[in-house]
Amino acid sequence: MRAAASILNLLLLSLLAGLDPSKTQISPKEGWQVYSSAQDPDGRCICTVVAPEQNLCSRDAKSRQLRQLLEKELKEKMDELLPLIPVLEQYKTDAKLITQFKEEIRNLSTVLTGIQEEIGAYDYDELHQRVLSLETRLRDCMKKLTCGKLMKITGPITVKISGTRFGAWMTDPLASEKNNRVWYMDSYTNNKIVREYKSIADFVSGAESRTYNLPFKWAGTNHVVYNGSLYFNKYQSNIIIKYSFDTGRVLAQRSLEYAGFHNVYPYTWGGFSDIDLMADEIGLWAVYATNQNAGNIVISQLNQDTLEVLKSWSTGYPKRSAGESFMICGTLYVTNSHLTGAKVYYSYSTKTSTYEYTDIPFHNQYFHISMLDYNARDRALYAWNNGHQVLFNVTLFHVIKTEDDT
Ligand SMILES: *[C@@H]1O[C@H](CO)[C@@H](O)[C@H](O)[C@H]1NC(C)=O
Ligand SMILES: *[C@@H]1O[C@H](CO)[C@@H](O)[C@H](O)[C@H]1NC(C)=O
Ligand SMILES: *[C@@H]1O[C@H](CO)[C@@H](O)[C@H](O)[C@H]1NC(C)=O
Repeated sequence: MRAAASILNLLLLSLLAGLDPSKTQISPKEGWQVYSSAQDPDGRCICTVVAPEQNLCSRDAKSRQLRQLLEKELKEKMDELLPLIPVLEQYKTDAKLITQFKEEIRNLSTVLTGIQEEIGAYDYDELHQRVLSLETRLRDCMKKLTCGKLMKITGPITVKISGTRFGAWMTDPLASEKNNRVWYMDSYTNNKIVREYKSIADFVSGAESRTYNLPFKWAGTNHVVYNGSLYFNKYQSNIIIKYSFDTGRVLAQRSLEYAGFHNVYPYTWGGFSDIDLMADEIGLWAVYATNQNAGNIVISQLNQDTLEVLKSWSTGYPKRSAGESFMICGTLYVTNSHLTGAKVYYSYSTKTSTYEYTDIPFHNQYFHISMLDYNARDRALYAWNNGHQVLFNVTLFHVIKTEDDT
């Protein structure tokens, strides 16, 4: 296997403006790149950190690879991580996390030096494991920085005008940066044709790349594409289907126990929108209502392979009074209407099992929203706004107050 560095993209939302590009930008060959982009009107930045991904070598040609690993990757990684420190310095309100992150980077540096000195003493696999583990911890650290509380919704940008009043369109939050396929599912009932486009540009111009004929019709507009599979609610049931776009096969199907369906507990606009499937930074979720919870919203985290419920939270918000809902960083945000004047009115944190009333307006430009879903990769809300496919940007705010909050 070649050592060519593929790219891992990590987004990190900065609380402070004014990152100095000359300080933070280094050439791609040097590895990690840190630069700011997408500055919003409040002066918050989104920083993108591009890092070389760990290549997975086979055990053959062990010594060559080991040398390669040591000379290039480990050493480079070390050099590459050091420029992160000035960026992190700017997270003044995140002092604790910065300290931890800096320590993590310095620890990494020490460990790598140690490994280089003791080159003879390490088995290749052990080295590989240690590098992987360090990377994983850094990635987790970065994830904490990227997550936050919804503060503001801006836009929308109208991407396209097409289809009926009700429908869904989406991209895969787990797809690689280059893969920007769009899926399009018009109408909430009596349809099983999914249209695929290679990019947003192809979607806009109407250059379809594939169509999929699902084995079952769907209900509602609350489908999600996650890690290459489509998850949807099978018509007239509370069965969730996981369908693979690669193989064209149903990989799993399971009834969502007690979940109301077929307009028993839809969103305010109806349309069999009883069961809402969504994905965020944490994983795959189903949002629905049950008789047991008196028609109020239940949030369940799902196993993406088996569709089993891993854990559920019962909220006190009536599903039939919700316009739409979406999940960001484990918090569910619920709008109070699908019509003009709709706003994000309620939020429920699965981390603390607590709710809050919120007042986050957004511009319902075409007066009727039948789908609203967060995409963690794009940090955007995808919406179907009365036959218009629109995107909203979100501003998240991240504060670490205490050690317990990490
Ligand atoms: C979101 O923000 C980015 C960066 O400012 C901008 O390029 C993009 O057009 C915005 N999208 C929407 C939907 O407002
Ligand atoms: C760094 O290493 C020290 C000493 O081994 C350890 O106590 C500490 O927890 C490490 N810090 C991080 C953030 O991993
Ligand atoms: C995505 O799917 C691949 C297999 O196709 C799997 O190896 C990987 O762990 C999945 N990623 C996530 C985040 O679940």
